[in-house]
Amino acid sequence: MSGTERSVYVWDLPVRLVHWGLVVAVAVSWYSAEQGLSGWDVHRWSGYALLTLILFRLLWGLWGSETARFSDFLVGPRAVARYLRGWWHASPSRGHNPIGGWAVVVLLLALLVQGVSGLFATDDILLTGPLAGWVSSDLQGRLSSLHTSLFNVITVLVALHVLAIAVYRLVRGERLVRAMVTGRKYDGWRAPWIAPLSRAALLAAAAAALLAGAILTAP
Ligand code: HEM
Repeated sequence: MSGTERSVYVWDLPVRLVHWGLVVAVAVSWYSAEQGLSGWDVHRWSGYALLTLILFRLLWGLWGSETARFSDFLVGPRAVARYLRGWWHASPSRGHNPIGGWAVVVLLLALLVQGVSGLFATDDILLTGPLAGWVSSDLQGRLSSLHTSLFNVITVLVALHVLAIAVYRLVRGERLVRAMVTGRKYDGWRAPWIAPLSRAALLAAAAAALLAGAILTAP
């Protein structure tokens, strides 16, 4: 860090909690699925936790802090192409960079589909997702296959995600992990607007209520 750089608070607490919460929820969901019947309760609850985190993050992308908003980091194809062409010399981004922003959306959507498909999945013997009663057994079967196969895609996406972060560290010297832990990056940007935590609590409650409402009213 040179003397002219100052620390700017770019990732608010909700973004960081969701991020590391997702890492734990994905790991626990994978491990509990490997345990079969004995891991079912843990799998179910880690799936609910993961879905609540994702639903909250989607709401936070609309009404959260400046750098958490999709409008802050989703740019058109031309801006992405321009960024990629000038990648070697591009200066660090305050929030997500143009390509990273789209990678975030792909990750979030893949995790959303993974969680939602689990709600409708069944093993046709003992284990059934809470919303399976809403769909035909044919659709249950297809969503169960999706739930199993999409996990492999998510594994690849997460591996690429971690690889990209390592490349940014090694090639461009950007300490993105430190920023996702402390919330701070070192550069001279204007500090982004940070939404109040009361708003995060309200949207987290809305996300949890949406999921609980769907589960509790399912046939
Ligand atoms: C299951 C594993 C993981 C998932 C599902 C995941 C997902 C995500 C998501 C959704 C974001 C966007 C954050 C937001 O805007 O809310 C993100 C960003 C980020 N993740 Fe992960 N992540 C995972 C593992 C990791 C690991 C292991 C690391 C550390 C090596 C890491 C480091 C980061 C960093 C540094 C960012 C910010 C990137 C930037 O500055 O643009 N992630 N991740």
